[in-house]
Amino acid sequence: EKGNYRHFMEKEIHDQPEGCQRTIAAYVDMVAGATTFEGVDLAGVERIQVVGCGTAYLAGLVGKYLIEPLADLPVDVDVASEFRYRQPALRENTLTIAISQSGETADTLAALRYCKDKGLQTAVVVNAQGSTMAREADVVWPIYCGPEIGVASTKAFTAQVSVLTALAVAAARARGRIDAAEEKRLVGVLVEAPRLIAESINLEEAVQGIAHEVSKARDVLYLGRGPMYPLALEGALKLKEISYIHAEGYAAGELKHGPIALVDEETPIVILAPYDSYFEKSASNMSEVMARGGQVVFITDPEGERHAPAGAKVVVTAPRCDPLIAPLVMSAPIQLLAYQVAVQKGADVDQPRNLAKSVTVE
Ligand code: F6R
Repeated sequence: EKGNYRHFMEKEIHDQPEGCQRTIAAYVDMVAGATTFEGVDLAGVERIQVVGCGTAYLAGLVGKYLIEPLADLPVDVDVASEFRYRQPALRENTLTIAISQSGETADTLAALRYCKDKGLQTAVVVNAQGSTMAREADVVWPIYCGPEIGVASTKAFTAQVSVLTALAVAAARARGRIDAAEEKRLVGVLVEAPRLIAESINLEEAVQGIAHEVSKARDVLYLGRGPMYPLALEGALKLKEISYIHAEGYAAGELKHGPIALVDEETPIVILAPYDSYFEKSASNMSEVMARGGQVVFITDPEGERHAPAGAKVVVTAPRCDPLIAPLVMSAPIQLLAYQVAVQKGADVDQPRNLAKSVTVE
C-alpha cells in the first residue's frame, strides 16, 4: 500500500531508514558491538567476485570501495550479463556474491550457477527469500527492506549496501585488519546510519528547487570520487530510467579525459562530494566545471559546504557522517532528485516505459 504517498517509489525512499535498520540488525550484534555473518569462513576467503545487474551491480561496486580498503581483500565486480561470457579467470577460495532484489534476474542467476559449477562457494544478497537464487546459493544473506514495488530500485539498494558495509567490517575483523575495539566502533557507526538516512530524506525540499532546473535539461552529468563514484553512476541510472533525461555518471577524475567536452550552460553537473579525503580533488573538478559555465548541483555535508569553491549554484547539505556510511547517507538526495524530476515531467514513476521489475530473460 502506498499510504499517503503519491507513488511507491516515494514511499520506498521513505522506507529506507527502517529497511536499513532491520537489515543492519540482522548482521550486527549491538550488545557485543560485533558483526555476525553466518555460513562463510571470511578468514579463508582470498577474493570476492560480485555479480549483479543494474542497481544491484552498483551496490556491489560500492561494496568494493568499502571492502578492499578496510579488509585488504580483493573484490571484483562484474555486470552479470558479461561475466560468464568473458571466461573470467577464477581461483579457488573465491567467494561469489550475487546481488539481486528479486532473486530471479536471468543473467545474475546464470552467473551464480556458473560460479557454483566451477566449485566456488556462492552467497546471495537477496530480498525475495523464496526466489530461485535464494534456493540455489550456498549461503543466503537476506535484506529486510520489505517488498519493493517501484520499478526503480531504492530501498533494496541501500539495504544491499548495508549488508556489504557490515560485510566489510566482518571481513576486516576476520582477517585481523582491525581489532575488537575498532570493530565495535564501526558497528556503532553503522547502527547510526538509519537515523542519518532519515535526516537526509528530510532534504526533500532542498532537492525540490533543483529538480525544477534539472527537469529542463537534455543531459545531466553525475561526478564522484571513491565510493561516491558508484553513487554517481546510480544517480545517473535513476534519473534516466524514470525521467528519460540522458544522464551519465563518471569518476570525477575522468572529467578531463572526455566528458568535460559536454559541459556548457545548459548541462547540470551533479557533484557528490562529502568532506572526505577526496574532497579537495572533487572541489577542483567543480571549479573546472564552473569555469566553463557549467551549472553545478553540489551534494555535500556541512563541512564540505564551508569549503566549497565560491560560485556553486545549488548546494544540498546532507548530514555529516563517518566515511563508512557515506554511501548510505548520500543515496537519498540522488533518489529524491530523480523522483522529483520525473514527477515534474509527469512521467509514470512506478512503471517507467520499456522496463520490467524483474528481468527473467537474458
Ligand atoms: C534500477 C533497477 C534495475 C535492477 C536490475 C536488477 O532501478 O531496478 O537496474 O536493479 O534489473 O534487478 P534484481 O536486483 O532484481 O536482480
